[in-house]
Amino acid sequence: MGSFKGKDILHGNQFSKKDIEAIIKTASNFEKELKRRDSLTLLKGKILATLFFEPSTRTRLSFETAMQRLGGGVISLGSVESSSVAKGETLTDTARTVSQYADVIVIRHPRTGSAKEAADAVPIPVINAGDGTGQHPTQALLDIYTIKKELGSLKNLTISMVGDLKYGRTVHALAELLSLYQTRLYFVSPSPLRMPEQIIFDLREKGIDVIETEDMFKAASESSLIYMTRIQKERFGDLSEYERMKGSYILNRAFLDRLKKRVVILHPLPRVDEISTDVDDYPGAAYFRQMRNGVFVRMALLAMIFGKR
Ligand code: CP
Repeated sequence: MGSFKGKDILHGNQFSKKDIEAIIKTASNFEKELKRRDSLTLLKGKILATLFFEPSTRTRLSFETAMQRLGGGVISLGSVESSSVAKGETLTDTARTVSQYADVIVIRHPRTGSAKEAADAVPIPVINAGDGTGQHPTQALLDIYTIKKELGSLKNLTISMVGDLKYGRTVHALAELLSLYQTRLYFVSPSPLRMPEQIIFDLREKGIDVIETEDMFKAASESSLIYMTRIQKERFGDLSEYERMKGSYILNRAFLDRLKKRVVILHPLPRVDEISTDVDDYPGAAYFRQMRNGVFVRMALLAMIFGKR
């Protein structure tokens, strides 16, 4: 362990299988520890800064919770309108400024590559909490942790990813991590929202069995886990295109009854209409457990970045 000390977390492809195993083990230990007490003192005196240039509920709050559970402090840029970004300050100047106050930065920004840009500008670790349609590596790690917990293993799985695979940064990062485990992947989307060619090419180069289809039932029938995603309205240049795509795939209880087998259902959330609320009490519906796991995984990453695990 200790391989993340002082490192940035920017992309799904930066993790080896050994790294993932270390993160899972550390997160699992924190999960157990939090059953015994509310908080630890491991990162006492350290400060985490959140810079969110796009909306977030889970990622920002779970990072803030993780830091506080570890005994550290949190500062936040707040809304873009209330910061000097509104006066035209550049991303790198903002990052440089924040690095004078904090020991680690968590950033979400609409531009792909922005987290790396910030990381290159500052001497402290930067964590990518979503860069446009690029990557969301800490979401992928908490997804992997959840898959392991829900299914018991990461080996020999068939997983369906459904919805907006073009703009969905969570599936881009998760596909990278799953490729380490030779997972068979169904990519289910309307044709205009297919997984980017480069990602499919890279997965096939690694020997991953990738099947693209528009048929969610066929894919789900052969999968032990369905990863649903939202059609991302905010990424469409042409809103009439969004109107055509929205509601393409809706997972409801009738669909699951037709499957006649138990599957695990994940979703990074927020959802719009792609998972009906009648699925929420289905035993395999793990999306609320998934978001809770985000705290343990982010605690693990923070502790490892500071060399405390
Ligand atoms: N999963 C996720 O990134 O959720 P938020 O947009 O609420 O952070």
